[in-house]
Amino acid sequence: MEKVAVVGSGIVGQVLADGFLTHGFEVMRGSRDPGKLADWRQKARARARTGTFSEAACFGEVIVLAVKGSAAASAVELCGAANLAGKTILDATNPIAEEPPVNGVLSFFTGANESLMERLQKQAPEACFVKAFSCVGSAFMVNPDFAGVKPTMFICGNDGNAKRQAVEILHRFGWETEDMGGVEAARAIEPLCRLWCIPGLRENRWSHAFKLLKNDP
Ligand SMILES: NC(=O)c1ccc[n+]([C@@H]2O[C@H](COP(=O)([O-])OP(=O)(O)OC[C@H]3O[C@@H](n4cnc5c(N)ncnc54)[C@H](OP(=O)(O)O)[C@@H]3O)[C@@H](O)[C@H]2O)c1
Repeated sequence: MEKVAVVGSGIVGQVLADGFLTHGFEVMRGSRDPGKLADWRQKARARARTGTFSEAACFGEVIVLAVKGSAAASAVELCGAANLAGKTILDATNPIAEEPPVNGVLSFFTGANESLMERLQKQAPEACFVKAFSCVGSAFMVNPDFAGVKPTMFICGNDGNAKRQAVEILHRFGWETEDMGGVEAARAIEPLCRLWCIPGLRENRWSHAFKLLKNDP
């Protein structure tokens, strides 16, 4: 697990790509237009590459999917099923609809009893999707600093090995993790993005993360 592909030219792709470089991985970032990542590549220098979605997916032993939710199916198609087969896909996407938020509450284009990750897992059945990084703002994805308290990243997915890889990465990035089970749990994890965004959209407060408090015996 040395080579990571980050499929996405937005802020999440940038933060996670930089995080993986900081934590010693080789990184290739993917875009439909790799030229737009030239500045990033130059600044990141060593161990940083850029390419198309399919070149990145081919390069990565682990792949981060960090594209616009409504374009995720198209991005998976462009990555190519063969390039994703058998690999861990850390899915940071959220199914945010185009409609404006209602009193700070984002609209989703998925229904309550489905999720974007389930759609993607069906589309690429040999890929091992793990929901991760979807329920926190990009500023806190790598080495989150909450005065010594580790926030919780909720993950889910069908493949145990893929989730073990996700947990290893998240621990290196300073998170504690809670495995919520199979791919269907994305129906519960993806909406955390809506909850996380409400203070931001209503009051411009964006500096928080979720923590699962436990009273286990
Ligand atoms: N922003 C946050 O803090 C945050 C936090 C948690 C989760 N997320 C989720 O992370 C994902 C990425 O968010 P972001 O803000 O970094 O970027 P974004 O603007 O949502 O997505 C940018 C990426 O989407 C791709 N894209 C857009 N339209 C496309 C299309 N028609 N076909 C294929 N690809 C297309 C772009 O490809 P090109 O490179 O080819 O232009 C680019 O790589 C989203 O699903 C978001 O909900 C965001």
